[in-house]
Amino acid sequence: MSSDAIIQHVSDRYAKAASTGEQMCCPTTYDMAQLKSFIPDEVLKISYGCGTPAGLRTVRPGETVLDIGSGGGIDCFEASRLVGPNGLVIGVDMTDTMLDIARKNAAVVAANLGYPASNVEFRKGMADAMPVEDGTIDLIISNCVINLAPDKRKVFREMFRVAKPGGRFTISDIVADQTVPQYLVHDAEKWGDCLSGALTLSAYIAGMADAGFLGVHLVKCSPWQVIDGIHFFSVTLTGYKLPPATDPSPFRYATLRGPFNRVVDERGTAYQRGIPQPIGPEDALLLSSPPCAEHFVLTASPLWLDDKDPRWTAIFPAQAPCTWRGHYALLAGPFVEAADDDNHTYRRGEPLEICSKTLDVLQTEGYAPHFAILNRAGQQVSGAAVTCAPDGGCC
Ligand SMILES: C[S@@+](CC[C@H](N)C(=O)[O-])C[C@H]1O[C@@H](n2cnc3c(N)ncnc32)[C@H](O)[C@@H]1O
Repeated sequence: MSSDAIIQHVSDRYAKAASTGEQMCCPTTYDMAQLKSFIPDEVLKISYGCGTPAGLRTVRPGETVLDIGSGGGIDCFEASRLVGPNGLVIGVDMTDTMLDIARKNAAVVAANLGYPASNVEFRKGMADAMPVEDGTIDLIISNCVINLAPDKRKVFREMFRVAKPGGRFTISDIVADQTVPQYLVHDAEKWGDCLSGALTLSAYIAGMADAGFLGVHLVKCSPWQVIDGIHFFSVTLTGYKLPPATDPSPFRYATLRGPFNRVVDERGTAYQRGIPQPIGPEDALLLSSPPCAEHFVLTASPLWLDDKDPRWTAIFPAQAPCTWRGHYALLAGPFVEAADDDNHTYRRGEPLEICSKTLDVLQTEGYAPHFAILNRAGQQVSGAAVTCAPDGGCC
């Protein structure tokens, strides 16, 4: 399918859904009772996202929020409430039927919120060429849209262009655990279902990083569909357009606390747990932002940590037999590579098969936020318990 054909098909599909109020799509967890208190049903019933705009939790009054593929406007209206009457929300969508519904309801929402005028503008445009000024957006959100765009890398570059230095994004989208094969890529129906255009998690995060975003990491992950053994799942990711580090930083060293034994950041710097690593002002900015901040101690002079220091963290597998049940772990940032204390090296977005003991380790607090875990076993598995070598991992 050509890019033009994809765009036409997707636009027709969502225009039809909006005009019929068809129910479709994916795992969302909105507080509908709260949204119903100020957003008309006409908008709520055409909510076609695949995540909740978790990033909106970080919104401060007065900020400017951009929603890419705003549809009927559900996330724009929630953003409108959160930024307050002095903030601004811009929704961009390519489909007239969606824009008409969103624009019609903007005044109703403003009145329900007690605002003198709506602070939401809905603009017609494409995700890969947005009618938005350079460097003007504090927070970019998008809910189940970028998978529908034929050229995602162009969308990621557009996002970076419009973000303010110091801005951030939080987007929910569908990704796959392996490259979507050509027979699905050319299936028009499945484009509209947010499947054919799904990138792998690895390509998705790499595309964001290549566009210039840093600290790209997972916020939430939910399974969606399995088609011909390909696992499609919804992820919510956040990342930063860091401002230039103009002031000299008081921090010259970073020491990894754990629980990872070793990590490599997006700039290619490797950090070994407990060993101070010299850093520059840009690294200091990144490593002091969530979620890196909780894994590092930043200091003015070198700091060595050992396992007696309360800041040192390590999580070891149980000394017991393990079983293989079909689980795979995908590191989902903010590191491009990370190692645990049981001989596993995880590479960003690449599925690694793990046994039950490693699953238990990765489900602990220090590791869990950074991994998407899938089960590729097609049925209940009853594998025999395996005893690992005493000095190494079994995986
Ligand atoms: C799955 S719906 C999601 C709508 C909204 N974000 C929500 O959560 O309800 C996808 C929306 O993205 C729009 N869209 C899809 N591809 C687009 C593109 N390349 N550029 C602009 N809008 C696009 C569609 O018109 C549709 O309104």
